[in-house]
Amino acid sequence: MVDYRGAAPLNERVEFFSTEWIAAAEAELQKIVRRHPEALAGVDYSLSEAFSDAPPHLGAPEGRVGWTLRFSGGGVTVERRPDEAADMVVAGQYQAAMPVAQAVGPIATARAAKLAAHLFGKKALRGRGAPPPPGLALVLRELHDHLARRTVENPDLTHRLGSQGLKRKARELARDGYTVLENAIPHDIADELRELSLDIMLSHKSPGSRNGRIDCMGLISRGRAFEEIVQHPTLRSIAESSLGGAMILQTVSSAMKAPGPSAVPAHADYVAVPAPYPKYALVGVAVWALDDWTVEAGPTWIIPGSQKRRRPPEPGDNLEGGVPILMPKGSVTFFTQGVWHWQGDRTAPGERVSLHNTYQRPFMRQADDFSNIDAVLHRNSPVLSTLTGHDDYFGRSDYMGHDFKRSGYMSRRQRWDAQLAL
Ligand SMILES: [Fe+2]
Repeated sequence: MVDYRGAAPLNERVEFFSTEWIAAAEAELQKIVRRHPEALAGVDYSLSEAFSDAPPHLGAPEGRVGWTLRFSGGGVTVERRPDEAADMVVAGQYQAAMPVAQAVGPIATARAAKLAAHLFGKKALRGRGAPPPPGLALVLRELHDHLARRTVENPDLTHRLGSQGLKRKARELARDGYTVLENAIPHDIADELRELSLDIMLSHKSPGSRNGRIDCMGLISRGRAFEEIVQHPTLRSIAESSLGGAMILQTVSSAMKAPGPSAVPAHADYVAVPAPYPKYALVGVAVWALDDWTVEAGPTWIIPGSQKRRRPPEPGDNLEGGVPILMPKGSVTFFTQGVWHWQGDRTAPGERVSLHNTYQRPFMRQADDFSNIDAVLHRNSPVLSTLTGHDDYFGRSDYMGHDFKRSGYMSRRQRWDAQLAL
């Protein structure tokens, strides 16, 4: 049993396959085995895992990390190297395995594995051999979830962007103020998010609202699919390249647009920020295409490079140079740093449904209410705890003084001085 609710305490958080992670795994495994002696009775089984392209700071030879767990005689031993001859062998790329390593519960883990295969190919994560006997499978499940709750993201963003094949996209984002990650989720996940979004929106407003536009916010507590999409591994890396590793969510929202003229004129997404805007980005928005974005669909239009003006568009401004963001269903666009954009007219029949994850620097106030989500945080890795603003020191000062633990944690993730090598 775990002895906390919400996210794992800061001092228990560890990096995937770091020395501390393996030590935490070994200690917990011994405890689980003591609790479930029946699961190991008569069991003689070994499991090996190996991952390539681990971040250099872990110091693994040739960037390869791995281990072998051996169960026999009612006990378990942990070896800090993989064994090709183990009963079951799991192998893959470190960063492709990360979302799977961070998923809590069997269903979320299976969904994470499916997304990893979609993003990085089926060979990026593979397994062979005999599955563990049922009792032992439960032991391994318990170990996996214990570690998933404590496994932090790889803090080396340059390495992560390279490993995920995103350096060109990050350069594009810095230059143009936006980029597109094509086919970032499978169609069935796009369909699921579309249906969930529509169900929430249509339950509280009629389709005639605001020039055919309806929206809803605060979706983080409305289901696993929303929790997963805000943590999407490649989108998050792209967003962090603009907003830093301590970024938080401002809001998670959906919008639908019925046929008709645009309901959203040119703007910069910098609500309440006075011009001139700072040279660094404050807010960035990811918009998921849950339908194909064609010109007729009424997509977002954007003026590439307009973030360099460092002010919002004003009446009379020339909006020439605007381009429609065209992308297939399941893609996501991320725009940032006050780039100018607006919603296009919709001439196609039916409605366009999109999902927006709005990220921002951690010192800005959030629009959604992210309090009282302990159950949500408990079934996720520390990634969601940081994203929802539970790992920084805001709102935590009291007569006991400053929360140095959280301010240090936030500063280490923010890393203003870190230069990305793109
Ligand atoms: Fe916007």
